[in-house]
Amino acid sequence: MSPIVSAMIIAIVLLNTAAMVWLLLWMRKRRGEPQTAGDTTGHVWDGDLREYNNPLPRWWLWLFLISVAFALAYLLLYPGLGDRRGTLGWTQVKQWEEMQAAQERSARSILARFDGRDPAALAGDPAAVAIGRNLFANNCAACHGSDGRGATGFPNLTDGDWLWGGDPETIVTTVSQGRVGVMAPWIDVLGEKGVDDAAAYVLSLSGRKAPKGDVAAGQAQFNTYCTACHGPDGRGNTAVGAPNLTDGIWLHGGSAAKVRETIAHGRQNAMPAQEARLGDTRIRLLAAYVISLRGPTRVAALDSR
Ligand code: HEC
Ligand code: HEC
Repeated sequence: MSPIVSAMIIAIVLLNTAAMVWLLLWMRKRRGEPQTAGDTTGHVWDGDLREYNNPLPRWWLWLFLISVAFALAYLLLYPGLGDRRGTLGWTQVKQWEEMQAAQERSARSILARFDGRDPAALAGDPAAVAIGRNLFANNCAACHGSDGRGATGFPNLTDGDWLWGGDPETIVTTVSQGRVGVMAPWIDVLGEKGVDDAAAYVLSLSGRKAPKGDVAAGQAQFNTYCTACHGPDGRGNTAVGAPNLTDGIWLHGGSAAKVRETIAHGRQNAMPAQEARLGDTRIRLLAAYVISLRGPTRVAALDSR
């Protein structure tokens, strides 16, 4: 707040308060003065109902004065007068931080027993999975859906198809550090026809036919430009987060038009890092929950690795 605005607010508040006190005291002075017939507000209703201009009852007057005193004490102790901070040094941020710290202390006592545990083992512990489910609803569901099944651009975490890898350590790394998946635009390199051909080949990998484009020419393009990331057989590469293009599961939409759009214009996608927000133990619980989404048999298979 600029000092001028602050000074103006202080002046307005104090002048208003002083004016209020003056008004109250002025009303009080009238008490005890003899009441005359002319001492009305001049309003007349129904021909003979008049409104007397009587002083306030004393108790009411005192209530007003007490509230003025309260207001002044409040403005002295707490922020409220312009940008004055108040003698107690109270701020909303400080109060919020204290509440957060208190909450964290009580959460710690519950979370402590999961510290450093292997997410695969936690996935078999119903208490851990229940906490993970709540954490997921609060921190992840906005993007991955309340059931973890994702949406266009946001991967489904339940289908066993992984961009970056589905083993427990990799999931922990993904969630704590975040991930950026980048697919470059290819239109300048391949041209319109080249993109059509590449899209036809990509669709053929999951047994589909494209409305246009030459699959054989597309395969040649793919072998030149795409295998470095998507692998020679198009099954993807978790080191760079390149999706498997053969399984009929599409991150950015599987219609011929969407696949073509991805290849022509590229995609850029980010999973935000959570370590600073959530800390290690919560991330392990979240990984346990994500692992539990695959169903019991696959969790058991992980356990017996
Ligand atoms: C702002 C949206 C957003 C939020 C919030 C978010 N994610 Fe993600 N997440 C993504 C995107 C986008 C990707 C895919 C990144 C890519 O394309 O490489 C992703 C990828 C992942 C992956 C890797 C999937 C794979 O196939 O390898 C996991 C695991 C994951 N998220 C878990 C979580 C968890 C757990 C949370 C909650 C703490 C969370 N995400 C919160 C957007 C989000
Ligand atoms: C530098 C590595 C790299 C190269 C080279 C590359 N891609 Fe990709 N591609 C990716 C990544 C990473 C993604 C996932 C982007 C994301 O996370 O959203 C992707 C996504 C895709 C998708 C979307 C898949 C889906 O599930 O929606 C298609 C289709 C695709 N690439 C085709 C190709 C074709 C065709 C080429 C060659 C012309 C190619 N890519 C070259 C890294 C690459």
